[in-house]
Order: sequence, then structure tokens, then C-alpha cells
Amino acid sequence: MSTLEIQDLHVAVGDAEILKGVDLTLSPGEIHAMMGPNGSGKSTLSYVIAGHPHYNVTKGDVLLDGESILDMEADERARAGIFLAFQYPVSIPGVSVANFLRTAVSNVRGYTSKEAETNANGVIGSNLMPMREFRRELNTKMKEYNVDSSFARRYLNEGFSGGEKKRTEVLQMAMLEPKFAILDESDSGLDIDALQVVSDGINKLATEDRGFLLITHYQRILNFVKPDFVSIFFGGRIVKTGGPELAHMLEEKGYKWVEEEVVTRTAAA
Ligand SMILES: Nc1ncnc2c1ncn2[C@@H]1O[C@H](COP(=O)(O)OP(=O)(O)OP(=O)(O)O)[C@@H](O)[C@H]1O
Ligand SMILES: [Mg+2]
Repeated sequence: MSTLEIQDLHVAVGDAEILKGVDLTLSPGEIHAMMGPNGSGKSTLSYVIAGHPHYNVTKGDVLLDGESILDMEADERARAGIFLAFQYPVSIPGVSVANFLRTAVSNVRGYTSKEAETNANGVIGSNLMPMREFRRELNTKMKEYNVDSSFARRYLNEGFSGGEKKRTEVLQMAMLEPKFAILDESDSGLDIDALQVVSDGINKLATEDRGFLLITHYQRILNFVKPDFVSIFFGGRIVKTGGPELAHMLEEKGYKWVEEEVVTRTAAA
């Protein structure tokens, strides 16, 4: 069975240690929700797993199916089945959603690693997924995941509203079919109907062969997407893991009690 294991992960940016020993195992068929105060390091963790080059892993490891992925570039990790939906999706003016997705899907499905077809006049084929096949699949999935077909032609995230960006991230996930998906605040800034659309999308994609790490600030999305585990991230590490009741407790009491528990535990150690 496939697993994504984070072992005693320590990460620094410059001189500042941001992740201070994260341990977490994701398995297929599981939804693991992660909540934690602003600045505790949740997005940093997601970037490090996805392969953002800016961060320096000083200790620990990230293993996919038992093999370290730390030496792999971000695109290799995507090919290996890791997907990250960014908290703040970047816009790419000049690149349409359709072109972006065709390139990304072609990378993940191995088309780009093949040689493009050539003859005496040069390149005649392409090492991308064939256009018609891609279009057919994109149209089907845009309908299925409630993304208006006009978005295929628009530049990626350029001028998209917050909610439109989040819906497009779910569409990306549906096209890329990852083994492990990390969704960083995919519920933030969504109106009530959009939250339902995004949640439905996640539920549709939450199959037995796919694991989810769902970073969120609000219990609300967990009414629609049922987590198997809820972890509290605090001060650069996971300090508590439980079931959905933990999310309710945070909603009710905030993070003060978590801080007190951490202080008591540290004093006892
Ligand atoms: N490139 C960087 N340079 C300097 N500091 C950084 C960098 N990246 C992250 N940090 C710091 O690391 C800490 C954790 O940031 P991170 O974005 O991971 O938090 P978060 O838990 O996702 O917060 P939020 O809930 O607000 O999204 C913050 O104090 C942030 O300023
Ligand atoms: Mg964040």
C-alpha cells in the first residue's frame, strides 16, 4: 500500500527554524485535516512536501512508499503522485488554463518524457497528450467539477476571484489524479455555494486509492468533508491528533488551551 510519511521533519528558512520535528503518515483512503494558528508552519510543510526549492530541510525525511523524495524536483514529485493546491494560487498571464493543464497532465502521465516525433523537416509530433483526447477529458471534468467552460481559455488565475481560483485547483486535482493531495486552505474565502462545490469535488476525488491532507482554519468544511483524523499544528509541529471532535473543540475554545498544554508538557519534559 502507498504511504506518504513525514518523519521528524525540521525545516529552516535562512536562520529561522520553522518546522521543528513534524511526524505524520498519510495513507490512501484517508482524509487528514490539519488546523493551527496563523504562522505555525502549515503552508511551509505543504511547500516542503511539494518540493519548493526555497526551504532547507535540516533534519528528518519525507518518504513516498518508503523512498525519500527530498532529492526530487517538484515536477518529479508531481509525477510520483503528489499534488499541492496552494493557499495563494499564482496567476500566470499568457498561459491559459487549458494549456497549463495539458502541459501538467502530459508531465504527470509520462507524455513529456517521450521524444517528440520528428522527420527530416524537424519536429512533427508533440510530446503532449493528444489535443482531442485532452479536450474531451477537460470538458467532461469541467462539467463534473462545476467549472464554467469559458475558464479553459482564460489565463491561469489571472483576474479570477478567490472562489474561482479554489474551484480551478479542484479541477487541476481532478485532471492530475494524484495519490496524495495537499489542500492548503481550499475552503478559505468561499461563499456557501462554492464551499459546497469544492467539498463535493473533494468528496468525489476522495477514493480508496487517494490520501488527503486538508489544511483549514474552520470546522465548517469538515461538515461536508468528513476527516478520519484531525491534527493540531502549533509552533512548527503537530502537538495533538484526534478525530473530528478536535475541530469542534478548537472552534469553541480557540488555541489558548493548546498553548497551555504545550507549555505544561515542555515543562514536564
Ligand atoms: N520564505 C520565508 N522567509 C521568511 N520567513 C518565512 C518564509 N516562509 C515562511 N516563513 C515564516 O514561517 C512561519 C510559518 O509560515 P506558514 O506560511 O507556513 O504559516 P501557516 O501556518 O501556513 O499560516 P497561515 O495560517 O497564516 O496560512 C511564519 O512566521 C512565516 O513568516
Ligand atoms: Mg498557510
